[in-house]
Formats: sequence, structure tokens, C-alpha cells
Amino acid sequence: MNIILLGPPGAGKGTQARFLVDARDMVQLSTGDMLRAARSSGTDMGKKVAAIMDAGELVTDEIVIGLIEEQLTTTKAPGGFIFDGFPRTLAQADALGELLAKVGQSLATVVEMRVDDDALVARITGRYTCGDCGEGYHDTAKQPAKDGICDNCGGSNFKRRPDDNEESLKTRLMAYYKETSPLIGYYYAKGLLQSVNGLDSMDGVAEAIKSALASVE
Ligand code: AP5
Repeated sequence: MNIILLGPPGAGKGTQARFLVDARDMVQLSTGDMLRAARSSGTDMGKKVAAIMDAGELVTDEIVIGLIEEQLTTTKAPGGFIFDGFPRTLAQADALGELLAKVGQSLATVVEMRVDDDALVARITGRYTCGDCGEGYHDTAKQPAKDGICDNCGGSNFKRRPDDNEESLKTRLMAYYKETSPLIGYYYAKGLLQSVNGLDSMDGVAEAIKSALASVE
């Protein structure tokens, strides 16, 4: 079952994708994570996208479609793929449909996560992750059980993203409303859209997504 988690920055796409990976043997394809990995390994592409990402603008369609194409043709996903942060433009959505068809697959559903802007600011500015295993945390919503120690791997190397500040969030939100929110209508018209209340607790959102997936199984 291939699904898209669609929502603005901070909606909880990454958090819910990790739950689904654990629960359903799915593979998370996050273009944001792929681009950050390219940056840290210092590839030419990584250097090219660094300033764009920090400013909160969108990287070109060509780059992100290329990243997804590579994954779709080389990665095995017994439980299906979760597209997290992709597609973000109509051109990316068209490309995804074509790429899936090429490998004999299709989309089961698109789950839109609805969250209002005030909550997004609080979530983004409070977010940090374990630099060793990638487990996500938040200053108030989710702290490690033992202060300064990652629950998942025991590491103590926490970090914050350079684009997680109010200024770049404004640009990211603008990009979402301008370029990505038209995908809500696009997938609704294809009969694939389901919406959940992303303002609920993490477990509450996970339950809502579980029901959404059960309805198309
Ligand atoms: P990307 O990494 O995709 O960032 P994003 O879409 O802005 O999404 P986030 O990762 O910020 O949020 P999320 O929805 O995953 O929330 P999370 O679960 O972490 O993209 C970064 C950049 O890369 C882009 O700006 C762009 O430059 C580029 N890029 C990437 N993909 C691209 C593409 N396809 N095209 C072009 N450019 C692209 O949760 C946030 C916080 O809230 C966490 O601290 C979490 O603990 C907390 N939280 C989560 N759920 C809840 C809850 N229910 N209640 C309370 N707190 C919660």
C-alpha cells in the first residue's frame, strides 16, 4: 500500500511516518531527509540546495523527482512506500503517478493532516532530533524519558534544523499554500483524499491514520 502524507511544515508527517514504518513494515521516503543527507555528505547537489532549504524555499522539481525515481527503482518495500514531503507541486504529483505506473504500482490513498498555523509555529520552533538515530523530540510535546539521552538509541547528540526558525517557517508556509495546497484538490478529484485532524495528540493522529488506511485495504 503506497500512501502520501500531505500537510504543511510541522503537521507531523515525519512523526506519523515513523510510526507506520514500525507498525506496518512500510518504507518512508522523505525528500527533506534525502536532501539533508546530500547536504551533510557534501555532494554537489547537497551544496546547491543548502541555501534554498535554509531560506525555506522549494528545491527544483527535477532534483526531487530524480531522488524519488532512484528510490522507487532500487528500494524494496514489502509494506509499501510512505511519501513524506513529496509531492509538493502539481508537476511532482504528475511525475509520481507516472513513476509508480512505470514500476507497476499505484497510490492507495493520500492522507491530508490538517493543523492551524499557530500550532505549526510552536511545533517547528520546539522541534529537535537525535543526531545519531533521527528520533524526533519536542521541547514540550515529546521529551526524552531521561534528560539529554535519546530513548531510542541512548545517544546524547541532539540537534535542531537550521530552517526551524520563524523567519524561514514563514517562507515554508507560503510555499505550502502557494505550491502544495493545490494538491488537496488534485487528489480529491482523483478520489484518493482523506483528511485527519493533525491537532490531536500523536497517538490520536496515529489512530485516525490507521482508520484511514483500513478504509482502503
Ligand atoms: P521537509 O523536511 O519535508 O520539511 P517540512 O515539510 O517543512 O516538514 P517538517 O519535517 O518540518 O514537518 P513534519 O510534518 O514532518 O513534522 P514533524 O513530524 O517533524 O523539507 C525541508 C525542506 O527541504 C523544504 O523546505 C524544501 O526546501 C526542501 N524539500 C523537501 N522536499 C521537497 C520537495 N518535494 N520539493 C521541493 N523542495 C523540497 O513534527 C514537527 C514537531 O511537532 C516535532 O517536534 C514533533 O515531535 C511535534 N509533533 C508531531 N506531531 C505532533 C502532535 N500530534 N502533537 C504535538 N506535537 C507533535
